[in-house]
Amino acid sequence: VREGKILVRSSAGEYAVHVGPGLLDKLGERMRAANVRGRVALIVDEAVDAHWGEAARRSLAAAQYDAKTLRVPSGEASKSLAQADRLWTAMIEGGFSRSDTVVALGGGVIGDLAGFIAATFHRGMSIVQVPTTLLSQVDSSVGGKVAIDHPLGKNLIGAFHPPRLVVADTRTLSTLPARERWGGLAEVVKAALIADKSFLSELEQYLEGIGSGAVDELVLADVVERAVRIKADVVSRDEHETGPRMTLNFGHTIGHAIEAAAGYGPLLHGEAIVVGMRAALLVSERLGKLSAADARQAANVLGRFPRPPALATALSADDVKRALGRDKKAVAGKVRFIVLPAIGSAEIVPELPPGLLDEAIASALRDLGGSR
Ligand SMILES: NC(=O)c1ccc[n+]([C@@H]2O[C@H](COP(=O)([O-])OP(=O)(O)OC[C@H]3O[C@@H](n4cnc5c(N)ncnc54)[C@H](O)[C@@H]3O)[C@@H](O)[C@H]2O)c1
Ligand SMILES: [Zn+2]
Repeated sequence: VREGKILVRSSAGEYAVHVGPGLLDKLGERMRAANVRGRVALIVDEAVDAHWGEAARRSLAAAQYDAKTLRVPSGEASKSLAQADRLWTAMIEGGFSRSDTVVALGGGVIGDLAGFIAATFHRGMSIVQVPTTLLSQVDSSVGGKVAIDHPLGKNLIGAFHPPRLVVADTRTLSTLPARERWGGLAEVVKAALIADKSFLSELEQYLEGIGSGAVDELVLADVVERAVRIKADVVSRDEHETGPRMTLNFGHTIGHAIEAAAGYGPLLHGEAIVVGMRAALLVSERLGKLSAADARQAANVLGRFPRPPALATALSADDVKRALGRDKKAVAGKVRFIVLPAIGSAEIVPELPPGLLDEAIASALRDLGGSR
């Protein structure tokens, strides 16, 4: 097996992210090597369980782990207090203690929910993240943020609870729907844009291959590994997002607002982020930070993403602005913005000059409405 290993520093100690095709078969082995002890609560997405649950259980059993499977319905609605309550109950009834371990098998929904359970059950137990979507492999499984949603907003109830270990089997992505692949690819492109121009050039060769699933297995593993390295480097330097980690929000100010204004569901996170990144490129250029050539190169890459589905009701600039105001990243009414001084670096702008935010929102709405 070709395997990449990336180390991440955190307040709870250093942990490794293993990336490669076929690693699910080594899950138990990697957990033993990382000294993960006790019984295992395998919290798994129902759809993922059908494809990959047996492989995970086989590997855990081969390494002598006593594992109990707890299935969770697929979808964002499962990041709820009701699901958390159901899992807490199952774990109490199952006799789990704080010296046992949660293994999260699924996408970001499962990683965030299972992480929240691990952070809270008996005041905190270990979690091993086994991400199965492109988004969760390159983004949500690394960095220790865990959360459930509140009816008044996404990710409002949570904690920093770094994993003991992350095992990202890139072969599990073979069953992921194309729309989800493109959604995760948006975060991969974001990572390249903020941190690594040569990575963007590599992506330019493989974009449609990765999106469609036709890409070579080793190329895919390499792309995931490079994206994880970027995230790992950033969160190792700034775990609690007081500085550099904010640059991971490139494209997310307007992207999040559009996603929220559309009512979560019609647009995938990644689809909204592509629109948000295009608007953020415009802002970067208007502020005189980004060269026209770099802006064009970045916009070309983002222009190759499939169009998001048309919304049932078009969004207005006011809808987007209202959502911006509610964003937990807005500080004292000021909308913080991440801009690119060049492809491969990012910086934080505390507030945009009057008019520019409006212009960026208008451009994003045109983009969403179909004139790219
Ligand atoms: N903690 C963080 O730092 C962080 C960062 C980014 C996003 N997130 C969170 O991540 C969540 C989104 O994660 P996601 O995009 O992975 O979505 P997801 O977990 O909902 O997975 C997407 C869909 O793919 C299915 N699926 C997953 N793996 C599959 C596989 N290998 N084969 C077939 N189907 C599969 C799932 O059942 C689901 O329907 C959001 O809740 C978001 O808030 C968290
Ligand atoms: Zn994102």
